[in-house]
Parts: sequence; structure tokens; C-alpha cells
Amino acid sequence: MKVIKKIKEMRHISQEVKSKGIAIGFVPTMGALHEGQLKLIDVAKKNADFIVVSIFVNPLQFGADEDFTAYPKTFSRDTKLLDSRGVDVLFTPSDKEMYLEGYETYVELPELSSVLCGASRPGHFRGVCTVVCSLFNIVAPSLAVFGEKDAQQLIIIKKMVRDLKLDIKILSVPTVREPNGLAMSSRNVYLTDEERKDSAVLYQSLILAKKLVARGERKAEKIKAKMRALISSKPSAKIDYIEIVRKNDLKQVETLEKMKIDVSQPFRVEIKDDFLIAVAVWFGKARLIDNITLQIPKLSVSKNSKNYH
Ligand code: PAJ
Repeated sequence: MKVIKKIKEMRHISQEVKSKGIAIGFVPTMGALHEGQLKLIDVAKKNADFIVVSIFVNPLQFGADEDFTAYPKTFSRDTKLLDSRGVDVLFTPSDKEMYLEGYETYVELPELSSVLCGASRPGHFRGVCTVVCSLFNIVAPSLAVFGEKDAQQLIIIKKMVRDLKLDIKILSVPTVREPNGLAMSSRNVYLTDEERKDSAVLYQSLILAKKLVARGERKAEKIKAKMRALISSKPSAKIDYIEIVRKNDLKQVETLEKMKIDVSQPFRVEIKDDFLIAVAVWFGKARLIDNITLQIPKLSVSKNSKNYH
């Protein structure tokens, strides 16, 4: 595995690989690697022949009072893990080269960034999109892989690629979890033993929501209240948000059964909504996020039916 620090060198390698007709698969990370990020590499390898992973702790996506300086760094361990996973290039640019003096160009999706983590972390997704866009321009991959653990990030990146006509396929990977259900995250190292135990409640609350929906509950407020009660039962938990949104536009919903029916079509066309149940909770110094996607079972509704319920 080559370790490349300079943008010019990375560009040169990418151009050479592409000139041979080889597809580049790219996995951007901030390092402190765990099995979640490594799973993205496995998926990239199945879909491309040359794999580039970046490690760049992007200052632009951290708020002034956030953990940029404390963010875990395990570079030599990461390098070994990536090498053993069959990565071709590890790209680790410097802050200085990524953000040249006088830097002032940003990529922003204000609507999708105004909710969930975007509401709690103003400027975060502007930082993510700006750096991912720059990395895409440098690495020039055919495909890039992102985790479903950061559901809002994934949705925003897909939209950015669509809006800016970037010729990059975005693949996603389901959340990789610890045996107790806790989603793997570089920030889990901040947790004390007690907090680590308590934080399993995050996934439990999502499973509870899924069960409630399976039993017929459709009122978002009722589901959220039960989730809130469960999470609050853990002494170290401090809830940032619990939200139920439509997955396509991240808009909040009151009920989970809204279904649009396009009656203008000769045949009844149901546009099914997927819902995202997302949580962000503080456990001590760690702000942890998790989510699940729910599909509401299809209702059988005839073309002229007025009461879809
Ligand atoms: P980072 O937190 O290092 O995550 C890198 C990638 O790994 C992201 O796509 C993230 O969604 C995915 N990932 C993290 N934990 C995961 C888990 N438990 N299961 C599956 N995938 C997981 O996300 C970022 O870095 C940054 O915002 C970045 C995109 C690199 C831009 O700076």
C-alpha cells in the first residue's frame, strides 16, 4: 500500500490508473478506524479494482466547541489495518494543502442540512460536502462508499452528486454494530465503561420503535415518547434529538402511514414513503448517533378509493 500525502501525487496516481481503464473505488474517512469503516472498504473492493482510502480529520466540519483537537488519532494502527485489508493507496493530505490560504469556496445544501444533526451542528454538513467534493476532485473515483450509520450525511452526499452532476456512483453499507447493538464509531473511545453499557439503549430504542410500528402504531409523537422514556431511563444519557422523518427529503412526519397515490395514472400508482427514525444522544463526552429505516407495509387501495387508511 502506498501512503500519499501530496495532492499532486494522488492526482498523478489516479490519472495513471484511469488511463489503464481501471475503476477507482474511494472510501473517505477521518481515521481511528474500526470494523464499520473497514466494511466500506470490502464493499469498495467488490465493486472496483483499485482502492483509495483517505484519512483526513476535516477541521471545517467541526464546530468551535466540538472535539476537533481531541478527535482520536491512531495512524500507525490504521495504516496496518488498511494494508492488510488490501487497500492500494492511503491518501492523507494536510490541512494546509486542503485549505489553502484565503480559501473561500463551500458546497452547501441548506434544506437537507437544516434538520437532525445539521440543526444541532450548524455548518457541519457544509464542511462535510466541501471536503468530500474536494476529495472527489483529487481522487477522481468511479464509485465511493459511505456508511448508513451517518444516514443524513449519505442522503446529502447523494443529493450533492446529483445536483452537481458528479460522475461518481455512491454505494452504501448498513451500520456495523458491537455485540450489544451499539453502532461502531471512532467516538466510542470517549465512553466510560458505564456509559458504554448505557449507550446500548440507542439501538434498543430504535428496535422498540420498529416493534411499535409492527404492532400498528403510526403516530410519530407516541413512538418518540416511548423512545424518549426508554433512553431517559439510563442515567448517563442526555438526548439531543429523536426524530421521525421522511427519508427522501428529511421532513418531519406526524404519522407514518401517509401515502401518495397518483390517481392521474391509468393504473393506481403508489409512491411509498420510507421513514428514517434517527437519534442523537450524549453519553458523557460522546455524542452518538444511530438510525433505522422503516418501510410501512403496502396498503391495498383501489383507484377510486377515497379513504386510504
Ligand atoms: P468517519 O466518521 O471516519 O466515517 C467514515 C465512513 O465510515 C462514513 O461513510 C461513515 O458513515 C462510515 N461509518 C462509520 N461508522 C460506521 C458503522 N458503524 N457502520 C458502517 N459505516 C460506518 O464520516 C466521516 O468520517 C466524515 O464525515 C467524512 C465523510 C470522511 C468527511 O470528512
